[in-house]
Amino acid sequence: MPITTCIFDAYGTLFDVSAAARQAAAEPDFPQLRDSWIELANHWRLKQLQYTWLRAITGAHADFWEVTQNGLDWALEAIGLDGDDKLRQRLLDLYWQLQAYPEVPAMLKALKEAGLNTAILSNGSPAMLDGAVQSADIGNVLDDVLSVQSVGIFKPDARVYDLVGARFGCAKDEVLFVSSNGWDAAAATGYGFITAWANRASEPVDRLPWTPRYILSDLTTIPELAAG
Ligand code: LAC
Repeated sequence: MPITTCIFDAYGTLFDVSAAARQAAAEPDFPQLRDSWIELANHWRLKQLQYTWLRAITGAHADFWEVTQNGLDWALEAIGLDGDDKLRQRLLDLYWQLQAYPEVPAMLKALKEAGLNTAILSNGSPAMLDGAVQSADIGNVLDDVLSVQSVGIFKPDARVYDLVGARFGCAKDEVLFVSSNGWDAAAATGYGFITAWANRASEPVDRLPWTPRYILSDLTTIPELAAG
């Protein structure tokens, strides 16, 4: 089947999730973060994701914003900066204003010009995603922003991936699903989507029962892949 629909994970795939810690560390108010922002960003991201998986497994769903704050609190304590309320607030504020990776606007525009459906499918709450889409200014090249909020469970539960077919009326093998999270691209492969893993950090392939169809270093070649 030709690809009709390109679906993107949000955080780490379209939006640069490390940007909040990197930007705060560059501000004069936060010298305490200058040497530790990478460690903070890595802890924050990993804990945020772990909490989504644990909440999905245990049926204890929460808004992704709560999970994001929980992950940050763990990360700040891990690097000895818990109790720094000004820094915590600045990091949370910056999370609502993430920028897109540089190749993203032109890539999405090319997909729209080729007549394809484009959308985000994310753990993020609608309000968080709205903030990021607006600050990255990519709303005009997306047909929709799909949030797990409507099904009340996080990725990689199949009910999340089901949102794509429900919205666009397309078969699974018409969908190119793109994520920078190896586990998300792998699970979406098991679900039946054609998948591309944007391996921005040159990580090893996840040892899971499914392997992404394409492995890329960024999103530049997505329009070519989608065209077949
Ligand atoms: C998302 C996270 C997993 O946007 O990156 O769903």
